[in-house]
Amino acid sequence: MKRIAIFASGSGSNAENICEYFAHREDVDVSLIFTNNPMAGVIKRALKSQIPVVFFDRKTFYHTGKIPQILQNEGIDLVVLAGFMMLVPPVLVEAFPNKMINIHPALLPKYGGKGMYGHFVHEAVVNAGETESGITIHYVNEHYDEGDIIFQASCEVTPGDSPDDVARKVHTLEYAHYPRVIDEILNRQ
Ligand code: GAR
Repeated sequence: MKRIAIFASGSGSNAENICEYFAHREDVDVSLIFTNNPMAGVIKRALKSQIPVVFFDRKTFYHTGKIPQILQNEGIDLVVLAGFMMLVPPVLVEAFPNKMINIHPALLPKYGGKGMYGHFVHEAVVNAGETESGITIHYVNEHYDEGDIIFQASCEVTPGDSPDDVARKVHTLEYAHYPRVIDEILNRQ
């Protein structure tokens, strides 16, 4: 049995989609959902999927080894960031080398880095007049959005598209590909 932990800070629609994808699988278990945000929509979704939620604050995340310790005690094989907005500290990156992945809502290396998350990304893409955007799934290192790229998929951005339109197209790609890519990575481990 392979065990996944998901980290999310917001709505958690990707987290829910991943939970649904693996819900009836005997060989993969979404074991824990971590969040830094007590108001996050992901909490309700985790309850619906009956997956335990671990809350943590900045101090615990950046100044203790508690989070990697919980993940190791729980036998987590892959850490999946899904709309998680904090920079991952070295202590956690080092505990899960090549076993922590993120999804970014653009075609990295464009539109990545500090402050480039969620809606800000789609606004920047539209403001720059891009004709395409997409998703990037990548390994996580100590820098925002800089780990090795595992998979990308693109979508068209047309002149009349608003940031919300782009967000919808990108979410469609995320839902179609993130669980499948996670599955492939687990199979290779
Ligand atoms: C997703 O589009 C994800 O790619 C993005 O936040 C959204 C979360 O949506 N992540 C980042 O911007 C990370 N830099 P969700 O909470 O509904 O899954």
